[in-house]
Amino acid sequence: MRTAFAILLSCVATLSLGVDIPKVWDDDALASMELPLAAPSRSPKHVASTYYYRIPVRPIYKSYPIYAPKKEPRGYFERLQQQEPEIVFDPSKLKTENDWLRAGELVFDAPIGFGATFKLSQVRDPAWYEHLGIPIARDGTIPFARYVIRKKGEVEVGTGSCGMCHTRVLRDGSVVKGAQGNLPVDRAIGLNLRAQAKEAEEPKKFLEDIRSGQRLFFGLPWLRPDPLERIDRMSVEDIARAYESIPPGVTTRVNLSLFIPAQIPNLIGVCDLKHLDHTGIVRQRSMADLMRYVALVQGGNSFDRFGDFALLEKLPEPENLQRYSDEQLYALAQFICSLQPPKNPNQFGAAARRGKAVFERETCTRCHTPPLYTNNEVIPVETIGTDPALALQTRKGTGYYKVPSLRGVWYRGPLQHSGAVQTLEEWLDPSRISTVKGHPFGLNLPDKDRKDLIAFLKTL
Ligand code: HEC
Ligand code: HEC
Repeated sequence: MRTAFAILLSCVATLSLGVDIPKVWDDDALASMELPLAAPSRSPKHVASTYYYRIPVRPIYKSYPIYAPKKEPRGYFERLQQQEPEIVFDPSKLKTENDWLRAGELVFDAPIGFGATFKLSQVRDPAWYEHLGIPIARDGTIPFARYVIRKKGEVEVGTGSCGMCHTRVLRDGSVVKGAQGNLPVDRAIGLNLRAQAKEAEEPKKFLEDIRSGQRLFFGLPWLRPDPLERIDRMSVEDIARAYESIPPGVTTRVNLSLFIPAQIPNLIGVCDLKHLDHTGIVRQRSMADLMRYVALVQGGNSFDRFGDFALLEKLPEPENLQRYSDEQLYALAQFICSLQPPKNPNQFGAAARRGKAVFERETCTRCHTPPLYTNNEVIPVETIGTDPALALQTRKGTGYYKVPSLRGVWYRGPLQHSGAVQTLEEWLDPSRISTVKGHPFGLNLPDKDRKDLIAFLKTL
């Protein structure tokens, strides 16, 4: 009797502590989450939840830091080769809020691919770091990827985690998770393309495959002129060079384009935003929408249909694929919403105080409204006047750009939706308008006001 009572009690305790995990792939919630595309009939339709939930969940294995060569402790790699595989994400063990946060960090750093963006041989080769300019953290690690052991004796490099693009190594070597990343991801892709081309047995076929990959990832075959048309005139070398011209902090995700990459946004503070992505395509109505956003961009969008254009003619057998579990995405969202900015070394002194007045006088606050330093709205592309390509010629193109938050501009960059501007100084320099058009605000300031304004922006 007493035991039965104890069991009952413990059940009640778990129930009351238990968390309510939102259903991520909810067909109606997904359908109402997005703004229509500029061509509304081409707005993406996502795969049905009955299919999505047949995809098995990707287990999250224990992972280990990758050290840059010469920074690796003696015998480290040999020790890794002796480790047993271990699955570290187990929702039944998560009890407290802190448990969920720590589990969410594991998901943030968990790879979704192995050796895809870079390989074991590369991360162990000093020339790779030198050639690409890989930032190295103060502790000697590269915090953008991790070693994973899924099978004893086999150390793999896991890539494609959130941390690959959303982790930044600051100049002092400190690591900021969630910040606009600074791994040169697309340079790495360019380098790999060249290497693969060299090894390809049928170079012609290889080039054809690369071109069709580009169409699949980035094509809008309904649009005239076709923004990807020039890919058919490019050699592997041209394509590799195009990837290499994309700076750290900017990438070519699916639904963007090799020719229209996007600035990697800051995830610190992202849970306060009402729209996600530069074109504001996803409405963040709740934390569940953040989870849906992640499920989509990390694989769920490969089954999308855009009118009569489908990314996959036939859906693959779900058994051969992998997805995040709803619990993993819940933990991840908790972690992201808990992210805090690094300590700001810029004091709010006299210059910043004057700069704040300039900010108000120039009515920056209309759009970059405190305390978030965004009014949380989207603006028609012709109103803001910046390069319209991302807003009109990609599969994320809503015809709008989001007003970004200015918080944290001191520790990130490059700026603007395409990362076309390196610094605040350049953004507010009137001569930039000849190369980077639009957003005419604050361009006609006397030098002193501009300096003060920048001093203020660097305190946010
Ligand atoms: C290959 C690089 C890459 C990876 C990996 C990646 N992201 Fe992103 N992320 C981007 C880019 C680029 C954008 C901007 C896309 C756009 O505006 O169209 C973005 C946008 C976002 C946004 C919208 C933020 C905003 O303010 O608009 C969120 C949230 C986000 N990513 C979360 C994640 C999470 C969580 C993961 C891991 C599960 C992840 N990302 C993995 C590159 C990446
Ligand atoms: C009418 C609304 C509006 C006003 C007024 C405005 N901005 Fe912006 N701002 C935007 C939008 C929209 C973007 C994004 C443009 C893009 O990505 O193409 C932006 C981008 C920026 C960025 C780049 C941020 C990043 O994360 O890349 C900075 C910095 C900035 N604005 C500063 C200012 C300052 C300073 C003022 C006043 C002098 C100002 N803005 C006035 C709407 C506005």
